Amino acid sequence: MEEQQNVRRILLFTILSSLALSARSWAPYRLPSHLVPEKYSLKIITHLEDENNFAFEGSVDIRVRCLQDGTNVTVHIKEPLKVVEEGVKVKAASGEEEGQELDIASHDQDLDNDFYVIGLSDELKQGMTYIVHIPFRGKLTQLLAGYYLSSYVDLATGQKRWLATTQFEPTDARRAFPCFDEPAMKARFSVSLGRSNNLTSLSNMPLNSTEPIENMPGWVWDHFSESVPMSTYLVAFIVSDFEHRVSPPLGPRHNDVNFRIWARKDAMDQVQLAIDVGPQALSFFEEYFDVPYPLPKQDMIAIPDFNSGAMENWGLITYRETTLLFDPMVSTIHNKQRVISVIAHELAHQWFGNLVTMKWWTDLWLNEGFATYAATLASNQIEPTWNLMDESAVEGYMIVTNLDSLKSSHPVSVPIGNPSEIPQIFDTISYKKGSFLLRMMSLFLGEVTFRKGVTSYLKTHRYKNAEQDDLWRALTAQAHLDGSLPEQVTVKDVMDTWTLQTGYPILTVTRNYDNGSATIKQERYFGLSHHQEQNQHWWVPISFTTQDEINFEDTSPKHWLPNTSSMEIFDLPASDKWVMFNLKASGLYRVNYDKKNWDLLVEAFNSDEFKNINVVNRAQIIDDAMNLARVGKITYDIAFGLLNYLKNEREYLPWRAALSNLGYIENMMRRTGEYGVFKRLLSPIYDEVSQSSPKNKTLFLIKQHSQIIAWACAYGVGDCVDQAKAAYKSWQKMSDPDANNPISINLRAIIYCTAIKYGDEDEWNFAWERYKNSNVGSEKNLILGSLGCSREEWILRRYLDWAMEDSSGIRRQDSYTAFVSSANGNIGYHVAYNFLKNHHKDLFDYYGPKATRLGRYYSSVGKSMNTMPEYMELKAIGEEPSFSLSKLTVEQTEEKVLNNIEWRTKYFDEIVRLLKNILKICRKAAPVVLTISKTFEKCFFIANKQLDVITIQLKDVRKK
Ligand SMILES: *[C@@H]1O[C@H](CO)[C@@H](O)[C@H](O)[C@H]1NC(C)=O
Ligand SMILES: *[C@@H]1O[C@H](CO)[C@@H](O)[C@H](O)[C@H]1NC(C)=O
Ligand SMILES: *[C@@H]1O[C@H](CO)[C@@H](O)[C@H](O)[C@H]1NC(C)=O
Ligand SMILES: *[C@@H]1O[C@H](CO)[C@@H](O)[C@H](O)[C@H]1NC(C)=O
Ligand SMILES: [Zn+2]
Repeated sequence: MEEQQNVRRILLFTILSSLALSARSWAPYRLPSHLVPEKYSLKIITHLEDENNFAFEGSVDIRVRCLQDGTNVTVHIKEPLKVVEEGVKVKAASGEEEGQELDIASHDQDLDNDFYVIGLSDELKQGMTYIVHIPFRGKLTQLLAGYYLSSYVDLATGQKRWLATTQFEPTDARRAFPCFDEPAMKARFSVSLGRSNNLTSLSNMPLNSTEPIENMPGWVWDHFSESVPMSTYLVAFIVSDFEHRVSPPLGPRHNDVNFRIWARKDAMDQVQLAIDVGPQALSFFEEYFDVPYPLPKQDMIAIPDFNSGAMENWGLITYRETTLLFDPMVSTIHNKQRVISVIAHELAHQWFGNLVTMKWWTDLWLNEGFATYAATLASNQIEPTWNLMDESAVEGYMIVTNLDSLKSSHPVSVPIGNPSEIPQIFDTISYKKGSFLLRMMSLFLGEVTFRKGVTSYLKTHRYKNAEQDDLWRALTAQAHLDGSLPEQVTVKDVMDTWTLQTGYPILTVTRNYDNGSATIKQERYFGLSHHQEQNQHWWVPISFTTQDEINFEDTSPKHWLPNTSSMEIFDLPASDKWVMFNLKASGLYRVNYDKKNWDLLVEAFNSDEFKNINVVNRAQIIDDAMNLARVGKITYDIAFGLLNYLKNEREYLPWRAALSNLGYIENMMRRTGEYGVFKRLLSPIYDEVSQSSPKNKTLFLIKQHSQIIAWACAYGVGDCVDQAKAAYKSWQKMSDPDANNPISINLRAIIYCTAIKYGDEDEWNFAWERYKNSNVGSEKNLILGSLGCSREEWILRRYLDWAMEDSSGIRRQDSYTAFVSSANGNIGYHVAYNFLKNHHKDLFDYYGPKATRLGRYYSSVGKSMNTMPEYMELKAIGEEPSFSLSKLTVEQTEEKVLNNIEWRTKYFDEIVRLLKNILKICRKAAPVVLTISKTFEKCFFIANKQLDVITIQLKDVRKK
């Protein structure tokens, strides 16, 4: 599954710690193991013809093998599914009694565990097979889970059209048909779908035949071919009036998989990207995994209402519209990057997840981490000029080190007991930390060893289940064969320290400049300075280079720091040369140095030499330095001394790291009346960037351009706001604004937001009209994100109300976008926070089973709080029952606020002092031509008076 961007669903932490059980006998929520399914014959008729009665009905014949004598058949069912008890039959399917029915004594339901239990008077015999026949029916709901309804408006007629589609991962197949709904209970599926003959049906496998349904004129059965053995959560079926296009074959050396892209008729002009990318990614993975794709076809379909980003159902991948569809006239380059990476992610799952599946949800991170990592590899091959490997290294490093610095984070591999805990682990840790760790492994083992190990794992376990130790075993065997890991060390020794423990280490490198040695010490890194953890250690692959050597390419470890607290290394260069650790951020660890080595590095960065340092390491060291300063491990003098080199930096990634970290400081100052600093900070680079439009449109140039413009417009720098307003006006003047938009595509988010922020009702309503009229999901989403930029309280209040009304046209799946975009503004923050205080109960009801979403609401207002009274109030709200499904986000947000309070108490004065110092330097430097090279001097060119005023304001605020 691909998580919808920016949304994290979170662990029920208390349940996890108390119920984390692995012993099966203690786990009443697990199915008994006396029966295993071998084959399902599933028949479902879908009724979309009556708006007042959207429903389905059908039956399933499950052939089961009996492993142990028993007197019951226990399967999963869950509302809205109802069993038609009088039709239930259990028949022998082997042996002398073949065909004979067994006597049924009782029907029971265990609602807590979603069990339906058929009690038998006769005994099921070990070694025999049986057919369990269960008729059922159910309502199609709008829960975005199980077999559910979605809809869209047909543009030509203005009529609402309905479709029925599935979302089963992790445990919602049981809402659609009775089944053994655990990932290790693999079976073959023969699906038959009954539909009205003016609709189309789809399932995992290709259509085999169609025949009329007896006594139902105008209705037909679609019979699909029998599937390969697979888990229930990967089954999918859809009944719709969608259209499709077929991807042309890639050529003779490639597979002949029939690749089709499906969407509602009016969106068929947005499928070209998917048509091109799908087969390319599939071919990439066939080669990468060295295992052919086993199905004859792959359908990919854009569903208008969809809870997550996409779902990897085998042979029938479902997406929300924004992750599959792309309109080159309207969608941004960021949308393009997202579509490519989500398609690649889902296709990677066809091997990692579908072919070999985790035994139990504890190993979910392997599925998601691997799909995330492999998606970057495939995207990188599809768009080789985009530098995606570097970008994902830096983004991954920054996101993971940040979240995982919290005491309230959790290990990648979470012991999952009760299935109700599962939805919560589809989070940043599983996806991003998992992916980062796999990258780390591929770098320390070497790409070739890593791939061979993965292939052998896939071949050994195909059509079956595995757990993380199975992967470790395959990789260890390969690594020892290739000599890429010392004989006495296993991949399990190393990786268990990373996947079973929360957090990651910081290495402190203290050089002895007399004898050329250094001590390397490791401890867990925390975002709060007084947290300490003595007993946690990791197996750390240590790579480094020196000023004499300057080789950032060889990321294989020079040393292993075993899971002990420290070690010594020798043969470092002369005392006037720097050393730098963790090449290309190949390991998940921060590095701190002694003062002298920092000084040497700062000096190197501030000379021409910085260009010889790998760009990923440039971004990484900025992130390390700013974070180490944030927790007091180094001074801000060092951190800002380093940042000073940005005057010569032109690459996107180091700027990305710098702005993201300055963003933290800015966020801490935003509601203190303190704004001038950041306004001044950006003027010069804005002046340069606004005058150039990136002609040679590499991804990084476009991103660099828009990140600077975004900052400039957000802080009212230069003519950014006027330019944005003018551009928006010219759009408003168009006679057909839905068809003609003069605003440059990749700046639209910024320009809309700015125009709405500085505008009034007219600007807002204009955008709202465009939202309602747009036919492109990504454009709708972009507008939704801009509407929250308004500074009119009443407009924002109305907006938040509308976001919860289905009749407004905002889909349930998009509702939180309205809230989060409001919470990001200075006025909107207050409106959003009040809204959350008053309406968390309504939100809880609105989201139903998906109420984990409330965590996202909570963190989006909590993240900029930094005073004790704010903390106390937020904490009280977090204790409300509405947040019961988001306990961990609540806890993590509260911990972040504590970090903020600590930072504010300690560093406000120091930051202000530093800005003053920089100011002195700045005044000496003549502000000549406006080039990026002059940016940083000018960045800190702050009027003395203004700074004094700020200082006083800050002090006042702190006294309160
Ligand atoms: C499709 O057929 C069903 C009944 O079989 C009918 O109720 C419905 O109106 C038809 N839809 C269209 C668009 O013709
Ligand atoms: C069903 O049978 C299995 C195997 O004999 C047993 O472990 C389980 O407890 C039974 N379940 C019920 C509800 O009787
Ligand atoms: C298609 O249906 C026919 C007739 O029912 C059956 O014999 C054949 O095995 C099916 N083919 C596949 C691929 O399932
Ligand atoms: C544009 O980018 C491509 C690929 O990075 C490069 O080969 C080419 O020289 C660039 N052109 C210009 C005018 O900078
Ligand atoms: Zn996934």
